[in-house]
Amino acid sequence: MGFPTTRLRRTRRTEALRRFVRETRLSVESFVYPLFVVPGEGVRQEVGSMPGVFNLSVDEAVKECREVAALNIPAVILFGIPESKDELARGAYDENGIIQRAVRALKDAVPELLVITDVCLCEYTSHGHCGKVEGGQIVNDPTLELLAKTALSHTRAGADIVAPSDMMDGRVAAIRQALDAHGFTNTSILSYAAKYASAFYGPFREAAQSAPQFGDRRSHQMDPANVREALREVALDVEEGADIVMVKPALPYLDVIRAVREEFNLPVGAYQVSGEYACLQAAGRLGWLDLERTMMETLTAIKRAGADIILTYFAKAAARKLAC
Ligand code: PBG
Repeated sequence: MGFPTTRLRRTRRTEALRRFVRETRLSVESFVYPLFVVPGEGVRQEVGSMPGVFNLSVDEAVKECREVAALNIPAVILFGIPESKDELARGAYDENGIIQRAVRALKDAVPELLVITDVCLCEYTSHGHCGKVEGGQIVNDPTLELLAKTALSHTRAGADIVAPSDMMDGRVAAIRQALDAHGFTNTSILSYAAKYASAFYGPFREAAQSAPQFGDRRSHQMDPANVREALREVALDVEEGADIVMVKPALPYLDVIRAVREEFNLPVGAYQVSGEYACLQAAGRLGWLDLERTMMETLTAIKRAGADIILTYFAKAAARKLAC
């Protein structure tokens, strides 16, 4: 039945009606807030290209997490900047490394908050690559052992979920085997299953001091042009034991989120990355875009595309907005 009997504007007339027929509802329950933990005490240093995001020492991260929990955000994901970097990323799997100390402190102070740890070597290697480098190449299989050691040490420290973001082949299986062999059969794996070689990670590399010293990440991260390949990546990670899969970045890859949602039945995450955040912040500062409205619109779009879980630097601001 068409116009004039059908008038779609009828249910758009007032906010009460619009809210009543809304198809996608953002909820604080889906948010994960990323944190960058640095050595020292009392450190709270803003990241130049990410206004409102800070490098935090462990004590400051604890304060931040109390605030995050008070806003009902269920989870944080931790990135670490170590005291020193070397060829073998020793700081990544040091029992007393920056992440291990942060996880212990956070689980002690705010036990109800889920702690997810990013598992990758790029913040810990002197060359800034996500794996072992031999003859100028990032070598896959020898890297798996280091990733498994890293995930295991995060789990020993108390992490609820480990999140491999390195994009080596076979890392989910290697991590699952290592965790199970040490009795950690209940620790979940959130895999960055479809992670693209994206220019939108620029600000993160400033925050995490993890830019590669030579070359780039295109030998392991995905080609932005591919979506069928993303489904193969997800299928392999599911087979290897991933509990949650993620697509990253989010807004430029909504079609990938949708495709993964339609093909798989496990929870799907999406990472609204540093560059997505920086774009909106910059345009907001220039007065070119309304920051609050574009923040809520992009998060809603990511959810509408099919994400159950959204990692976002806007988590606190969006939680406050949703609460009022
Ligand atoms: C580590 C990692 C990166 C991000 C998350 N984990 C950087 C990269 O792959 O270069 C990016 C997150 C963001 O941009 O917000 N490998």
